[in-house]
Amino acid sequence: MGSDDQVTLTTRWKTLTSKEEALIFIKEVCIPYPWRVSICIDDRSIGFLWVIYPGRGADDETNEAAADIGYAIAVEYWGKGIATKALKIAIPQVLNHFPEIVKLQAFVLLENKASHRLLEKARFVYQGSITHQVQINGDAIVVVDAVYTFLSTDKIPPSP
Ligand SMILES: CC(C)(COP(=O)(O)OP(=O)(O)OC[C@H]1O[C@@H](n2cnc3c(N)ncnc32)[C@H](O)[C@@H]1OP(=O)(O)O)[C@@H](O)C(=O)NCCC(=O)NCCS
Repeated sequence: MGSDDQVTLTTRWKTLTSKEEALIFIKEVCIPYPWRVSICIDDRSIGFLWVIYPGRGADDETNEAAADIGYAIAVEYWGKGIATKALKIAIPQVLNHFPEIVKLQAFVLLENKASHRLLEKARFVYQGSITHQVQINGDAIVVVDAVYTFLSTDKIPPSP
């Protein structure tokens, strides 16, 4: 998944080109996430969801009352409703894991229509767009992201 340009195009990761890079990515990026789960089919991981906490706040400060959620699925599994199911299951789990947060938030490139639709299906609410600087492949890049939020008081979407 991480070695596929189609997946990394809309994430903030460098495309992985070797097993060594993949192992470093797992050790330095995946494992340090304070919450993450693999999405498995037949005991094989085909994607994952993760949370960054504290979440991003205004003016690039962090926000202890927010957590940022992200997700990615291997291309051959796109369009089957898997991410929608996984995100709906993850929402209550993340809120239970971080009882201090008041909102889950997602920052999505404007052109990432699949992710916009997925968030809407999981009852996230579009808040507007933000132009900000992010780290992509170790470089500081200015991007325009759509911001979606799910409040801890919002109605949990029904589990599939
Ligand atoms: C975003 C991503 C996780 C979606 O995974 P998925 O399992 O294919 O999502 P689903 O099958 O649950 O589909 C979600 C919705 O998006 C829609 N969708 C998919 N591709 C779309 C596109 N190009 N344009 C508009 N809608 C699209 C689907 O039709 C579905 O809506 P529907 O049920 O109303 O038809 C997947 O595309 C991915 O891993 N992308 C690369 C990583 C990434 O961008 N992560 C998010 C960073 S914010």
